Amino acid sequence: MKKIIFSGIQPSGDLTLGNYIGALKQFGQFQDEFDCYYCIVDEHAITVPQDRLQLRKHIRSLAALYLAVGLDPKKSTLFVQSEVSAHAQAAWILQCNVYIGELERMTQFKDKSAGKAGVSAGLLTYPPLMAADILLYQTNLVPVGEDQKQHIELTRDLAIRFNNKHNEVFTVPEMYVPKQGARVMSLQEPSKKMSKSDENTKGSIYLLDPPSTITKKIKSAVTDSSGIIAYDKENKPGISNLLTIYSALTGKTFKELENEYSDKGYGDFKNDLAEVVVAELTPIQERYEYYLGSEELDHILDEGAEKARIKAGKTLRKMENAMGLGRKRR
Ligand code: TYM
Repeated sequence: MKKIIFSGIQPSGDLTLGNYIGALKQFGQFQDEFDCYYCIVDEHAITVPQDRLQLRKHIRSLAALYLAVGLDPKKSTLFVQSEVSAHAQAAWILQCNVYIGELERMTQFKDKSAGKAGVSAGLLTYPPLMAADILLYQTNLVPVGEDQKQHIELTRDLAIRFNNKHNEVFTVPEMYVPKQGARVMSLQEPSKKMSKSDENTKGSIYLLDPPSTITKKIKSAVTDSSGIIAYDKENKPGISNLLTIYSALTGKTFKELENEYSDKGYGDFKNDLAEVVVAELTPIQERYEYYLGSEELDHILDEGAEKARIKAGKTLRKMENAMGLGRKRR
């Protein structure tokens, strides 16, 4: 039997180069070897306020991007989380198996709730919903960026706890992060990760940015005054981040890039990097435009949800039985 991959992305804003390098770009490589499920996690998005029309737009846009980067619906199951009700149901069961203390300790909760009034309970119970996403599919491997580490660790803990306490229901998943670019940083503040929710849009390259904007953002990326192109995360975070992006997109090592640019300045390096990024994103943008307007997109998501419901439903029934919910069924 093929091993199973699951990953999800929140439709909570325009996707960045960080989302692409850390996650989306990896998704396609598993399609032949694994049984892949790629989800648009709209229920996670509403843990913070969303405009309903924007959310709808972002869901469709993310689906079109999944297809544009090369996910093949014949090989991968693409679907929207809220269209498969097992996710919310399994999340409830997992909420009853997680401790409040574990949720309060999550850095994402601390960051997103700090100093805010009216924080939703959903923001606190975000991790058991994410665990439900993963565990419902008996997932072996979860390709994500480094920022998801704590969530995956909690998912593993919950799976092990449930298996020991109730019944052996879940496969315990592993995390997969790319060798290069598991944490792409902001171009303006390289101590902060590049994020789709960053208010300073100059720090992020969006996947749908036109070439001229991409070039402008890279040219104005923060560097340092030494003028030497070398990877040194501590002392040269800006240039190290640009080297990471360059390396992730071309497959060249830091050493190769350092040699290639040993007698060149930041200006040349940034020009070339802008060309690399534009060359990577232009074909994706073209395919995106095609899929966004196509009826095919809805068929693909309908079929994906149907397939996902079958797989997730089986695990949900096992979870309910293990907990003694409902009446005994054959
Ligand atoms: P989200 O929507 O914030 O991000 C989607 C994916 O992009 C990765 N990522 C990055 N990688 C490298 N550098 C960055 N600057 C960067 N920013 C984001 C994220 O690590 C992620 O892989 N909780 C998840 C969504 C989720 C999920 C799941 C993921 C819900 N259920 C089940 C995997 C499996 C999130 O908020 O991702």
